[in-house]
Amino acid sequence: MNRLVWNNDMRTGNQEIDYHHLKLFEVLSALNRSIDKKKSKKAIGETLEKFVATLLHHFVAEEFLMITKAFPEYHNYREQHEAMIIKTADLIQAYRDGDSKAKVELAIFLSEWATAHIFKEDQKFFSWLETKTNFTGA
Ligand SMILES: [Fe+2]
Ligand SMILES: [Fe+2]
Repeated sequence: MNRLVWNNDMRTGNQEIDYHHLKLFEVLSALNRSIDKKKSKKAIGETLEKFVATLLHHFVAEEFLMITKAFPEYHNYREQHEAMIIKTADLIQAYRDGDSKAKVELAIFLSEWATAHIFKEDQKFFSWLETKTNFTGA
């Protein structure tokens, strides 16, 4: 399993969000390690539950920020987050149902999604926010 590498360019400038993103990377790294080390289904399941809780908590905070700042692309982000939750839930279910490939597919999907989403998509919002803040002086 490829190691997830945190890149400082992923920082958004918002302390709370950066902390969430780092936490997501930490939990995903733990998930990748537990799969590499062929840990028990129970141990992997616990890490997955921790990831889902961290992810949901993060999405709520990020979307709340988008709503309060009247981000015009909010609905697009809501859809991306929702699609991520649905795919994650489906893969977790497949894993629980005994699909042996599901855990590796899940780990790869989550790692790729987290990196691409944080690096590309979230940055668009925070760049927009920075312009807005600079413009209004708020
Ligand atoms: Fe995010
Ligand atoms: Fe996001």
